[in-house]
Amino acid sequence: MGKILFPTDGSKTAERARKFAVNIAKATNSEIIVLVVVPTPSTLSGFQPAVAGRFEDELKERMLEIAKVARKKILDEDIKADFKVAVGAPSEEIVKLADKEKADAIVMGTHGVTGLARVFIGSVADRVVRKAHCPIILVPEKDFS
Ligand SMILES: Nc1ncnc2c1ncn2[C@@H]1O[C@H](COP(=O)(O)OP(=O)(O)OP(=O)(O)O)[C@@H](O)[C@H]1O
Ligand SMILES: [Mg+2]
Repeated sequence: MGKILFPTDGSKTAERARKFAVNIAKATNSEIIVLVVVPTPSTLSGFQPAVAGRFEDELKERMLEIAKVARKKILDEDIKADFKVAVGAPSEEIVKLADKEKADAIVMGTHGVTGLARVFIGSVADRVVRKAHCPIILVPEKDFS
């Protein structure tokens, strides 16, 4: 059985990537691991620890929900699915988990929630492409047509 890593930030593009991951999983008899990374932005360091802590907790809660919802949608397609939550730099955590789980491929979006559509690909996608050791499938926001 193959293993596909699907990192998501809950964005529309990531949702498109999920659908593609499901199609590959069906065709290749693979399972999907959903990964959300709660970013630890340096901008939070300007806040008092208590405030930054509360902000991080809220973010973690939201990301956890994103992971659970994505996993459920995948399970509804009769694909085996698990989810993981990591804290840190998204690209590093994605590459680390792909290595640890010996993922056959990473399926993710070209863009996410924060980015500008005019950049070629988002910074997380860019770093994963540079650092990962397995094949990566980047799913675009829009159809090519
Ligand atoms: N925090 C995260 N946890 C898990 N996966 C993520 C996370 N952030 C992004 N991704 C994955 O990376 C893909 C590309 O998102 P990315 O963050 O690179 O683009 P962006 O948000 O448009 O730009 P940027 O973050 O550089 O401003 C998303 O579709 C999603 O699959
Ligand atoms: Mg982003």
